Amino acid sequence: MRKNIVAGNWKMNKSLQEGIALARELNEALKGKTVHCKVIIGTPYIHLSSAVSSVDTDRIGVAAQNCADKESGAYTGEVSASMIASTGARYVILGHSERRAYYHETPEILKEKVKLALTAGLTPIFCIGEVLEERESGKHFDTVKSQIEASLFDLSPEDFAKLILAYEPVWAIGTGRTASPAQAQEMHAFIRRTLAAKYGEEIADNTSILYGGSANAGNAKELFSNPDVDGGLIGGASLSADKFMPIIEAF
Ligand code: 13P
Repeated sequence: MRKNIVAGNWKMNKSLQEGIALARELNEALKGKTVHCKVIIGTPYIHLSSAVSSVDTDRIGVAAQNCADKESGAYTGEVSASMIASTGARYVILGHSERRAYYHETPEILKEKVKLALTAGLTPIFCIGEVLEERESGKHFDTVKSQIEASLFDLSPEDFAKLILAYEPVWAIGTGRTASPAQAQEMHAFIRRTLAAKYGEEIADNTSILYGGSANAGNAKELFSNPDVDGGLIGGASLSADKFMPIIEAF
């Protein structure tokens, strides 16, 4: 059965010291508590190794926010999937709309990244989502479907089954304008039907699909109560334990 997951995406925030303090605070807050979801923190690259050693990784998984589309070699400034795995991080966020928009990551590049992440033993958290004009012109389903098809549908069923998906409507990211629970459920159900048509009901049923975009303590419970919303990918509200813990506890 698919897992409930609450994952934080810290984006480009926090010094190493601040990040480690937050990781430790979350670890303490979760100690001895029964929570009904898997918790993940997505940190900048330089925090990964220290984050892994600051938390009980059975309780808090650690994710990178990107990886290179090449295995190794003369690619100055890049960080490979296998380097990420060597820190003890087990997840990698790929295809975030900020990567697509600001760093020109195409579906083909993302396809490579997903493959390299899987080869390195990382679990990709693959992001998809439409921009406002696409939603307003009724193209949001087509956009999301083609993002999935273009980067993921040449994976074998065995590999596809290792992924986590995150639906993040771009108009909801960092805007305070959350998708309504009904909008989230409608899209998540559509995504699951799209997966079922390609990989069958069992894989579709077992894939965790997270919602991201201005999710917070105030709206998490209602979002997560939808049958096809299996958790959240949280930006701003993952940057402090006070804001992140209630989202974890919304399950
Ligand atoms: P916000 O929660 O800040 O809207 O960011 C969402 C996001 O982009 C998570 O990846």
